[in-house]
Amino acid sequence: MIWNLGSINADNFYRLARLPAAGETIAAGHFHQGLGGKGANMSVAAARGGARVAHIGAVGTDGRWAVDRMMEYGVDTRHISTVATPTGHANINIDETGENNIVLFPGSNAEITEQMIGGALAEASPGDFLLMQNETSGQRFAARTAQTLGLPTVYAAAPFDADAVRAILPQIDILVMNEVEAHQLQEALNATLPELPVAEIVVTLGAEGCNWVSNKSNTERKFTAYKTDVVDTTGAGDTFTGYLVAGLDRGLSMPDAIDLAMRAGALMVSREGTADVIPDLKEIQDHDFS
Ligand code: RIB
Ligand code: NA
Repeated sequence: MIWNLGSINADNFYRLARLPAAGETIAAGHFHQGLGGKGANMSVAAARGGARVAHIGAVGTDGRWAVDRMMEYGVDTRHISTVATPTGHANINIDETGENNIVLFPGSNAEITEQMIGGALAEASPGDFLLMQNETSGQRFAARTAQTLGLPTVYAAAPFDADAVRAILPQIDILVMNEVEAHQLQEALNATLPELPVAEIVVTLGAEGCNWVSNKSNTERKFTAYKTDVVDTTGAGDTFTGYLVAGLDRGLSMPDAIDLAMRAGALMVSREGTADVIPDLKEIQDHDFS
């Protein structure tokens, strides 16, 4: 089972001919609102990937719909609290090529307390995973608690913050980053990936696939990408990570879990939206990636 300390956002998608420059106003050709947040995306992906996943998070009174939707998608929502601060949201601009920029309001996601986290993890059992990203409060407390309980911890260093990674690194077992984040981390810590005190490191490379650096087994391996049409890359990385952990939770080896995660991420790139459009296992199996 997976315990995911994660953000929940209302994602506002705007389709534009091109991304606005400073001081510029551009009318959107299309708008829709969906369920998002790196945390919610990962929880939904893990559930779609066949794992049992309990989400630890917080919404405002305006966010009950998001919790209901996560429940509908198979996520255990008992440890999502309602707080006075409005629900986090993200305004996502997407241009015709699928390129985006995002304005993020953390809101309720910054109000997750140690008490909420401790209460949830008190129910964890040996063999469970803790999953986190960098869009909530409480990560260091959660990581220390997981370490005490002996739970393997997976951390996606997004959005990237060098100090946040530095503080949490000693408690992390599996670190997931994209290429830019991996580069920033190596610069900040003045260390190469094999020098980091983390057992497994996965670096996603977009159209180039992904790199697996295993400090545990002292190996490195490159995976080639599965090709799909790029419509909207938002949430593809989150889908990758959610599926990766779901695979590991189901007993897959690292390479097999990475392969499954790459397929899920590739399909996700071809869809506009985030949590609401994450593929399930059957869609991935049925898809012809050749
Ligand atoms: O990674 C994509 C996510 O980042 C979106 O769902 C948005 O909410 C932002 O948090
Ligand atoms: Na998408």
